[in-house]
Amino acid sequence: MRIALGVTGGVAAYKAAELVRRLQQEKLDVQVVMTRSAREFITPLTFAALTGQKVITDMFGAGAGSSDAPNVESAIEHIAVAQRIDLLLVAPATADILAKFAHGVADDFLTTLYLATKAPVAVAPAMNVNMWEHPATQANLQTLRERGVHVVDPDEGYLACGMTGAGRLAGIETIASAVCRVLGLQRDLAGETILITAGPTAEDIDPVRFLTNRSSGKMGYSLAAAAQRRGAHVILVSGPTDLAAPEGVDWVPVRTTSEMRAAVLERAADSSIIIKAAAVSDYRPVSPQAQKMKRGTANLTIELEPTPDILSELGRNKGSRVLIGFAAETEHVAESARAKLARKGADMIVANDVTQQGAGFDTDTNIVTLFLNDSREIALPKMSKSDVADRILDQALELRHQNK
Ligand code: PMT
Repeated sequence: MRIALGVTGGVAAYKAAELVRRLQQEKLDVQVVMTRSAREFITPLTFAALTGQKVITDMFGAGAGSSDAPNVESAIEHIAVAQRIDLLLVAPATADILAKFAHGVADDFLTTLYLATKAPVAVAPAMNVNMWEHPATQANLQTLRERGVHVVDPDEGYLACGMTGAGRLAGIETIASAVCRVLGLQRDLAGETILITAGPTAEDIDPVRFLTNRSSGKMGYSLAAAAQRRGAHVILVSGPTDLAAPEGVDWVPVRTTSEMRAAVLERAADSSIIIKAAAVSDYRPVSPQAQKMKRGTANLTIELEPTPDILSELGRNKGSRVLIGFAAETEHVAESARAKLARKGADMIVANDVTQQGAGFDTDTNIVTLFLNDSREIALPKMSKSDVADRILDQALELRHQNK
């Protein structure tokens, strides 16, 4: 697979040379693209020697290690590179490049490549702590996260500027594993069978009407796709959605809570991890009508009864399996999530406040806090549901090792 490694102008640029070597160990073909300021910190020749390839340094000129003169081909090279790569990684990524990506500025090769490529993009920021914490930088990162850019958060520690705090380029291993994950090369869930529920359930009132909710299935399907990519055998029990099942997963379509319960309980014993992202109806009509109910003039009352609580049932027979539930809340999020964690016998509850913009139902992003049994609470920023899925799976794997 081919990746373009964008190197931008920060002290950590020298670490990109080590990163090239590490990525090559994964058999990745690395094309280095340097910004003008990156060349103040490290020379293109270093990367040309490491990769054996021309380093792209600007839009119209020739690259290091090449005898090409500027020509029409070099002027449209960003399109050719954009089409041939499987990933664009920028490490280190300065505050400046994050701002340019977020705002669609295309004033050099790297920024133009970012706009021109359909390949996934990952950035590993590195900068001074005040620049990192500045609301402008955080807002730009938020924009990029929402657009699906994978952000490898910087480490905290002593920085080159003499200050201490967040802003140090993430470790080479962390960046390499993020790359492998995005490219589908990370198989850390191989050997696990993961049962995931997704979407809404529907409870019939009569043959033409039913009770349901606003779940699109996106959260559960993102989990299924991520788990599948990371090597797990995935069983996806799904209520009615418009989504196509990710390739390679065992897809079990259901409609009602009873059908979901039966499908889940039948497969629970063979699963090592269960994640219940489905928005299950809590109530159903006591007596669904066999014929379409006729309109009358009087008020109509439909008697409802509680549905079986599938998560609690699984919690009572958990064994060494990892059990993860969700909590969709509109108020008192933390209190409700902690109460659900205890009441349902789960190892972890993923809580989302579904009133927040960019969180909950039918969005491509989510804002969640992970509540763990050992009292840890991990609040994640707004990110794509695909990234949320990976963070949940990281935690699931950690719990799996603890439960073994
Ligand atoms: O599908 P999307 O549009 O992407 O939206 C994602 C989501 C908002 C549906 C998802 O992030 C989410 O919060 N899912 C859980 C919704 C829910 O039903 O929450 P709850 O707090 O009502 O239920 C708590 C847990 O118990 C859930 O894991 C649920 O699956 C489970 N449950 C609930 C009722 C029931 N009868 N049986 C259950 O197993």
